[in-house]
Amino acid sequence: MASAARLLLVLLAAAVGLCAGAGRGGGRVDLWPMPASVARGAQTLLVSKDLKLSTAGSSYTDGKGILREAFQRMVAVVELDHVINGSYPRGSPVLAGVRVVVRSPNDELNFGVDESYKLSVPATGNPLYAQIEAQTVFGALHALETFSQLCNFDFNARLIELHSAPWTIMDMPRFPYRGLLIDTSRHYLPVPVIKSVIDSMTFSKLNVLHWHIVDEESFPLQIPSYPKLWNGAYSYSERYTFDDAIDIVQYAEKRGVNVLAEIDVPGHALSWGVGYPSLWPSATCKEPLDVSNDFTFQVINGILSDFSKIFKFKFVHLGGDEVNTSCWTTTPRIKSWLIKHGMNESDAYRYFVLRAQKIAISHGYDIINWEETFNNFGDKLDRKTVVHNWLGSGVAEKVVAAGLRCIVSNQDKWYLDHLDATWEGFYMNEPLTNIYNPQQQKLVLGGEVCMWGEHIDASDIQQTIWPRAAAAAERLWTPIEKLAKDAGSVTARLARFRCLLNQRGVAAAPLAGYGRSAPSDPGSCLRQ
Ligand SMILES: *[C@@H]1O[C@H](CO)[C@@H](O)[C@H](O)[C@H]1NC(C)=O
Ligand SMILES: *[C@@H]1O[C@H](CO)[C@@H](O)[C@H](O)[C@H]1NC(C)=O
Ligand SMILES: *[C@@H]1O[C@H](CO)[C@@H](O)[C@H](O)[C@H]1NC(C)=O
Repeated sequence: MASAARLLLVLLAAAVGLCAGAGRGGGRVDLWPMPASVARGAQTLLVSKDLKLSTAGSSYTDGKGILREAFQRMVAVVELDHVINGSYPRGSPVLAGVRVVVRSPNDELNFGVDESYKLSVPATGNPLYAQIEAQTVFGALHALETFSQLCNFDFNARLIELHSAPWTIMDMPRFPYRGLLIDTSRHYLPVPVIKSVIDSMTFSKLNVLHWHIVDEESFPLQIPSYPKLWNGAYSYSERYTFDDAIDIVQYAEKRGVNVLAEIDVPGHALSWGVGYPSLWPSATCKEPLDVSNDFTFQVINGILSDFSKIFKFKFVHLGGDEVNTSCWTTTPRIKSWLIKHGMNESDAYRYFVLRAQKIAISHGYDIINWEETFNNFGDKLDRKTVVHNWLGSGVAEKVVAAGLRCIVSNQDKWYLDHLDATWEGFYMNEPLTNIYNPQQQKLVLGGEVCMWGEHIDASDIQQTIWPRAAAAAERLWTPIEKLAKDAGSVTARLARFRCLLNQRGVAAAPLAGYGRSAPSDPGSCLRQ
């Protein structure tokens, strides 16, 4: 081969490589999570520097600014602080704006809200507008996220481009509950960190932030009804005021993310007694909460009453896992109470959980409990209970066979604090394993990845969550028939999404290796 021809080939190969690097993907649809249906063409559009939002034809008035603010955020993550100052060649098609038609005027976010959308980007038109149609504003938010992933900065033209128009994307989630747990008891997470986690969730369309607020180690949240509870915080400043909690919930709701609040009773509650020592069985045996004392249930009632003013999600999480009842039998006062009421320790555990459930229901909540409650006395649980799996696989099938609802978080696959749990394992973990009956399948509300806080804090939470949580997010969003049968075949697309997270300021770790591992060698983000 002549050296000039060889040089040309090398240059061509390099150009193809660069295109892939810019996210054009050489034929791959570079969206994460993959939508339910995608059709596209071959035309490249330029995107206006001054992209317009039009809501003509909507029944939705955007009184809270949810759509307007989401649109501004979308433009910001598309531009990524590049200087967009190229000039538009005469006659080339320029996308002038996005027209959003939202059918429902209702902007209340809650469980089961319609999140579907249709996004079309035509290749011709004057003026040329992308079109989003959605039942609710929250579907429109997902559409804007998808739209943002179609756009790229063109380094030669210094403009934003949109490739492969025309696009027609129809999309809706497979599961209504797509969660991420954060734990602010083992380590305090500052409010801006929680907000950045919420922002990052929207990029992969997760919709529930499960806030494991308190545990044995610390009680960071102000509870107006019992103002000494947050004496159990680690320090004066590692706390959230009640107003901070309101702010976090509103911040999340504006982004289509529900906040699920948890108090984990009767175990995992030692910190409560710092402010109110009578919640402890004794000064030397401090948990579980004293089952024999009515004050315990008054405090739970006060907390849930305060919660109901700010946490508007349909569910509250009451924990109920890992209850070691030995303090109840070794404390003479409680032991005689048990005898008087004809209860052994397991009866008392059940009594506690069911009484706490009744209190939560009286405040308008459906309850979520960790799976031990089901494993020990599933037939006694209130029918409004959602059982939260964590110990292992094979639980959901038993829960739904018993007619209860379930959320899947089996720790071997979906615990982010398990650094040896790989993204491939996150991707392949199927919530409907061994569940074939369509009625029973509907009882699986979805799943949740859990970022327990023992070994993370503000310094490394994001790289421990991402990109593994995104792998689970596609499992929970995308129709099962469109999911890869083998995780290896989505590596390049997930790597590209991981780079996108980095570009957007999220400290997502490389894919290769274990959770939160450092890059192993110099090289492109796309190959790590
Ligand atoms: C684009 O911005 C750069 C840096 O701000 C500037 O040097 C350049 O002249 C600008 N080009 C145009 C066409 O405005
Ligand atoms: C239960 O708690 C008691 C008292 O705190 C402790 O001695 C015992 O080891 C615990 N049991 C388990 C299984 O953790
Ligand atoms: C506790 O008592 C119940 C009957 O009230 C009984 O079915 C159960 O086996 C007992 N559990 C233990 C651990 O003794």
